[in-house]
Amino acid sequence: MPSHHIHEPLRPYAVPAFQDLVRILYFSAGITKRRAYPGGEIYFRAAACTGALYEIELYVVTGDLLGLDGGVYHFNPADVSLRLLRKGDFRRNLRQATAMEPAVADAPATIICTGTYWRNAWKYQARTYRHFGWDNGTLLANMLAISAASGLPAKIVLGFVDAEVNRLLDLDTRREVSLCLLPIGRTSENLLLAPRDAPVLGLEVIALSQREVEYPAMLEMHDASSLESEEEVAQWRGKQAVLPSSALAGEAVRLQPLPEEEQPRDTIEQVILRRGSTRRFDRAASITLAQLSTILDCATQGLPADFLDPPGVQLNDLYLIAHSVQELRPGAYFFQRDRNSLELLQGGDFRAEAYHLGLDQQLPAEACVDIFFLTDLHRILDRYGNRGYRAVQLEAGSIGGRMYLAAYSQCLGATGLTFFDDDVIEFFSPHAKGKSGIFLLAIGKPLKRKLH
Ligand SMILES: Cc1cc2nc3c(=O)[nH]c(=O)nc-3n(C[C@H](O)[C@H](O)[C@H](O)COP(=O)(O)O)c2cc1C
Repeated sequence: MPSHHIHEPLRPYAVPAFQDLVRILYFSAGITKRRAYPGGEIYFRAAACTGALYEIELYVVTGDLLGLDGGVYHFNPADVSLRLLRKGDFRRNLRQATAMEPAVADAPATIICTGTYWRNAWKYQARTYRHFGWDNGTLLANMLAISAASGLPAKIVLGFVDAEVNRLLDLDTRREVSLCLLPIGRTSENLLLAPRDAPVLGLEVIALSQREVEYPAMLEMHDASSLESEEEVAQWRGKQAVLPSSALAGEAVRLQPLPEEEQPRDTIEQVILRRGSTRRFDRAASITLAQLSTILDCATQGLPADFLDPPGVQLNDLYLIAHSVQELRPGAYFFQRDRNSLELLQGGDFRAEAYHLGLDQQLPAEACVDIFFLTDLHRILDRYGNRGYRAVQLEAGSIGGRMYLAAYSQCLGATGLTFFDDDVIEFFSPHAKGKSGIFLLAIGKPLKRKLH
């Protein structure tokens, strides 16, 4: 694993200070780049996001910390500040809303991620609902990496009573909804107190547009995947995880991650500041099997989430189109996670197919490898109910976000991509028959611009 994954040892009681929280928030939702363009300036943030529209907001619910009084806060990336919404310790409200999820119950602070529909939907319409999971996921990958580098445990929590968390933040749920919780740190002061009253705040809100269009499909989907009571949350958390899927036996190549002494040494902050979605890949370049193995290895191991229990379970299956990976025959592959190998589905040059699958864009055709995330949604919905849909998207975004980091830690390039759902399934069939396309990431070497 690259050095930024070598963590400080977790302390038995790990309490973040204000500065630790700022570090986590800035290196996930903070503004890290500014680019001038003819009409003005575009701000880019630490994590990748569809259309650079940044529809995910972050809030913090905390007890008293070094440098920060207990309260409910909103993170404002523009000036890297926390704005107080409620004074006092409201963590007990989250303990109740999550039916005493242990990581939340013991956390000195919990970050809540929300999605604002219109910020993404003015461009992508109802597709925004998928983007919530993708874009929240890339943020989570950064937050988990920074937490780990700070010696602070963190866990993605998707089991909560939606209405209770939304009420705590006083969200207008036709416009903005809570998506997941990320408890940070661990403390012994686990007080079993009743939730506090959280009256309506009635804060003034600046309109995003003069007029907003509501996409009922998104509100319906969110409603249908909401959990309504603590009993339902506890039951949901107890659901058995989905078993890993097996593949047809074929020619397989074992992954060979970089040996310890060759792993990158940059800090996670350096990697995040370097990251930016690749706009052109060098078609003539190749990456090594060790580089690809390291990316797959780092990204797919030990994602801490309440819906991935027992650890090691993964909801998304990974399928690859390798164009130019040294020691790997060009072709379509299935990643056999339990055997740590890539199984050849079909050899061949599939650059033209990749161009089409990735929405007729050059990026997936010019990359060295394209990684497709597919899942059997029927099986997920059977086990996890409608909430499973959120879990699958969020997991994909988180693993995709980790792949971005693992690629950039090795000074490679990467970009998330949109794709033609049905054509992706057809391409990987019969192996992928019955599955659904969830996420796509292309990895390669950025094309160096010539200086004239
Ligand atoms: C899930 C996802 C899908 C994306 N799809 C595309 C795409 O289809 N085409 C493209 O050029 N960029 C795509 N991007 C890249 C975004 O445009 C990019 O992340 C955003 O502009 C922010 O820039 P940055 O990643 O360089 O910080 C995608 C990013 C993500 C996270």
